[in-house]
Parts: sequence; C-alpha cells; structure tokens
Amino acid sequence: MSTTTVSSPVEAVRLADPYPYYARLVAERPFAWDEALGAWVAADAAAVRAVLGSGALRVRPVAEPVPAGIAGTPAGEVFGELVRMTDGAAAARLKGVVAGALARADTAYAASLAARLTREVLAAGGEVPYEELMFAVPARVVATLSGLTDGASREAARAIGDFVQCIPAAATEDQYGAASAAATRLRALLAPSLAEAQAPPSGAPASGPGVGARGARVPYSARPGQGLVRELVTAAGRDGWPHPGPLLSNAIGFLSQTYDATAGLIGNTLVALARGADGADTGALVREVVRHDAPIQNTRRFAAEPFTHAGSTVEPGQQVLVLLAAANRDPAVNPDPHALTPGRVNPAVFTFGAGAHRCPGGQLATALAAAVVTELRAAGLGTTATPAYRPLANARIPLL
Ligand code: HEM
Repeated sequence: MSTTTVSSPVEAVRLADPYPYYARLVAERPFAWDEALGAWVAADAAAVRAVLGSGALRVRPVAEPVPAGIAGTPAGEVFGELVRMTDGAAAARLKGVVAGALARADTAYAASLAARLTREVLAAGGEVPYEELMFAVPARVVATLSGLTDGASREAARAIGDFVQCIPAAATEDQYGAASAAATRLRALLAPSLAEAQAPPSGAPASGPGVGARGARVPYSARPGQGLVRELVTAAGRDGWPHPGPLLSNAIGFLSQTYDATAGLIGNTLVALARGADGADTGALVREVVRHDAPIQNTRRFAAEPFTHAGSTVEPGQQVLVLLAAANRDPAVNPDPHALTPGRVNPAVFTFGAGAHRCPGGQLATALAAAVVTELRAAGLGTTATPAYRPLANARIPLL
C-alpha cells in the first residue's frame, strides 16, 4: 500500500511510512469530517488536545457502554469496569486508584525481570521468537508484578491475547467467545492476589509492597498478593474505594493495556535501529520512538454533548478519531518533528493520550521495552528496516 493510495487514517496505521499522509492532514485538515470513515478526524496537536480535554466527548458511545457482542458475558463485565472504557465521577475516582498503584510500580525491578525473561527465551535457541519477546515477555512481567507465579504468568500472557480481541469494533463472534473464556480465567488467576492483598495483616511488621521490614527496597516476589495488586488495594484503601470487583477488572486491565502497545514499542524501536537510528542510549531511543513512531497511533471519542473546535461542531452521537501519531509530528509543538532525535528536550508527546484518560503506565512501558531491546542488541539480534505491519486499526506493530 503506498502513501498515495491511503483513503483513511485507519489504513495509515499499517503503512511502511504513514507520516507524509499524517503531515498533510495536520497542514490541510487539522480537524475535519471524514465522510468515508463517518467520523471527525483530529490530526493536529491543538485539535487532539482539545478533544482529549473535553468532557463532552466520552470513551464509549452513550448507547453502548459495552460492545453488544460481549454485553452480559464475563468479558463484558470486565470491559465495563475498566477505567479505560468508562467516564464519570466513579471512573475518575477509580482512575486515581489505578494511577496511584502504577505510580508505585518498581520499574527498575520490572526491567530486570523483562531482561531475565528475554535472556531465557533467547537461550532456548532456534529462530528468534519475536512475537513472544514483544507480546508475552511484557505481559508476563506485569503478571508477575501482579503476584502470579511463573506458570500462571505464562497462562495470563496467553489469556490476555485472547481477551484483547474483543476490543476492536470489528471483532467476530468467535473472538468474543474466546475473550469471555479468557476473562473468566484471568479473574481466577488474579483473584488470589486480590484476596491476599485484602486480608488483614498477619502480625508481620508493617511494610509497603516492595519495601522490606527495615524499609529497604526488595524485589517483588511472585507470591500472590504482592506488587501491583497490593498497590491497587492500598490505593483503594487510602481513597475509601469500597468495591473489590473493579479492582480485579483493572488488574486485568494492566495486562490488556500492556499487551499490544508495548509489543508495538519494542517492534518499532527495533525497526528504528534497523533504519539507522542512534542507539547509543537505548532508553532515550525508546522514549523518542514513542513520539516518532507511536505504537498506539489513534484512539476514539464519542460525543455525549455538542463539542466545538476551530469553528466545527461535533454533534451528540458522532465519533472522533484522534490521531495521536499525527499530533506527535505537528511542527507547531515539536521542532523538526520528522527527525528521530533521542534525548529531544521537552517533546510534546500524545502517544500516551492526554487529559482524564491519560495513560498511567508510560514509565513502566518504556522501561520494559528498553530492557527487551537492550537484551536483543546484546545478543547481536535485530530486524529488517521494512517490515509489514499487523492489520490493526490503532496499534502499529511490525510483523517480525
Ligand atoms: C507503549 C506502551 C503504551 C502505550 C502507547 C499506551 C497508550 C495509552 C493510551 C493512548 C491511553 C489512553 C487512551 C485514550 O485516552 O483513549 C492509555 C490508557 C491507559 N493505559 Fe496505557 N499505554 C501503554 C502501556 C501501558 C502499560 C504498560 C500500562 C499498565 C501496566 C498501561 C495502563 C493504562 C491504563 C490503566 C489506561 C487507562 C487510563 C484511563 O482511561 O484513565 N498502559 N494508554
């Protein structure tokens, strides 16, 4: 597919180079109705900021808070409790709990786990299993941080791959069915961590998660009830949040939010290196790839009330496609936006969203991706500069 044949910003996600197309939108149609898509498209930084900052625009259509195909199933129950998929006062409060838990995640320990798992996978020999390194390794680290043991973390990484299939609007009946089975299994896997985290202390000295009896930081172990799930329970306690169900759903949400996005970040960093990027500082490169070749290229909003930007009004019921990857390269906010410049000072980055739904997992994601890429480079492994991309509508993930 060449850049000239792109007829929709959704197709652009999988182009070898979607950026000339995005640049044209930023320059010529920064906020415009797309007839073929049946949606508004926000492309420049001002429009993306305005859309993501507006309370009139919601993460789900008002009439369909949960996709019809999973309503009333375990996948639907989990979906309907995710902070990512809900708006309103209760969701905002729960977002505080979720973000509070992630803010205390031990990213250095997460990176060391990702490095260890990567070395283990590579040590098995044979053809490099890029899929496993991109998808399963980050998911297994997050599962381990959520208290799962080795075998359970493998199972959780597999199950979350099935669960996320229910999120795209084009999901099939089979995918909905697999997602519901996965939701049931993920709840069963994570419930013991939640129960243990909620149990009253057993006389052990008071110590925060990841903090030893003498206050020194110690690694998370794989024991149920430590790490992210305990942080969720602690943050909920601080806030007086009374309901355990949404905590379990949002622990599953940690896995689902990690899965495609972190895989894309690892893959896009490997592609950048193959295209000659300066990899002297892998962490700085990963952070710039986040902006330059965003693993999540777009997100959506649905108008609950009229929303006006730059003289155009989105009417209730209409949809907005928010081009995060285009706004990252808006020259109004990032000088020389098409240059890949690791160490760029104060870049404007939209890849993790903005406003009420801004991603609270950015630091964890970049730490995980940098660890996996560092191990691959240490092993002398890389990839091709011109891969094909998965046929997805919002995540940009090379097929390696
Ligand atoms: C490169 C990796 C990642 C990218 C590009 C990414 C991107 C995003 C974006 C764009 C959103 C907001 C979507 C919207 O407003 O429509 C989001 C939300 C979220 N992300 Fe991430 N994410 C990444 C990794 C992670 C990780 C590792 C976690 C946690 C373990 C995480 C947890 C979340 C949560 C909980 C939300 C929902 C926040 C809310 O709706 O209030 N993300 N992410």
